[in-house]
Amino acid sequence: MEIRLDGRRALVTGANSGIGAAIAEALGAAGARVAINYLAGDEAAEAVAGRVRAAGGEALTVKADVGSLDEVEEMFGKLDRAWGGIDVLVNNAGIDGARAEAWASDPAAWRKVIDVDLIGAYACARQALARMVPAGHGVVLTVTSVHEVIAWSGYSAYTAAKAGAGMMTRTLAQEAAPHGVRVLALAPGAIKTDINRSVWSDPEALRDLLEKIPLNRLGEPEDVARMAVVLVSDVASYVTGTTVFVDGAMTDYPDFAHGG
Ligand code: BGC
Repeated sequence: MEIRLDGRRALVTGANSGIGAAIAEALGAAGARVAINYLAGDEAAEAVAGRVRAAGGEALTVKADVGSLDEVEEMFGKLDRAWGGIDVLVNNAGIDGARAEAWASDPAAWRKVIDVDLIGAYACARQALARMVPAGHGVVLTVTSVHEVIAWSGYSAYTAAKAGAGMMTRTLAQEAAPHGVRVLALAPGAIKTDINRSVWSDPEALRDLLEKIPLNRLGEPEDVARMAVVLVSDVASYVTGTTVFVDGAMTDYPDFAHGG
């Protein structure tokens, strides 16, 4: 089965690197028009746009901080002017913050993670749904994490934001379903990107991480991107209000392969 998204107008946030860049490219390869949102790194964003075009899609870049309601509103205004609306939103922009136990954490840094990962996803979904609901179609896909459900010491803001984004997804799906709009989440496990470079580039840390993954390998951004294309396409027309885990079974708690 070939999955096509010809003519669909898609916005991917945080699309100038890592998982977001891979999703933008995969959407472009399926024929979508892709808006590449980014915050810093114009060159990287232009490079992704170039790859989307080379893959056969249309691309534009749009700089905005998803943690700012005003900048998000402006970004959607630009999309309206360029393409007259939006069919697919991929909420991908995210940060994990510096590792710190809550009692030692900096409240401003904690709030920043919530602003980008949760408020950012809400702000973009809000704008997208305001366009999709009257149009009677559209898909909002939020990239969460296995840390929607797995606690992670030192990352209480990140886990709270991801769990929140998961439940927000289910609620928005309930609101939007009667209007023909799907809302769902994709939860990656350990995917080899810059966000976890310090782990996979250190042999001891990598060994520890691989023990947490039954498939015994890190995921590649393309592993996530392929599933994102499926989920936003009509192939998944009956999938909404849920999270799809793309994690090599990290959430299968491999420690329980023994004992218990
Ligand atoms: C984090 C990665 C981590 C993975 C598995 C992701 O949400 O961004 O740094 O490797 O979860 O723990």
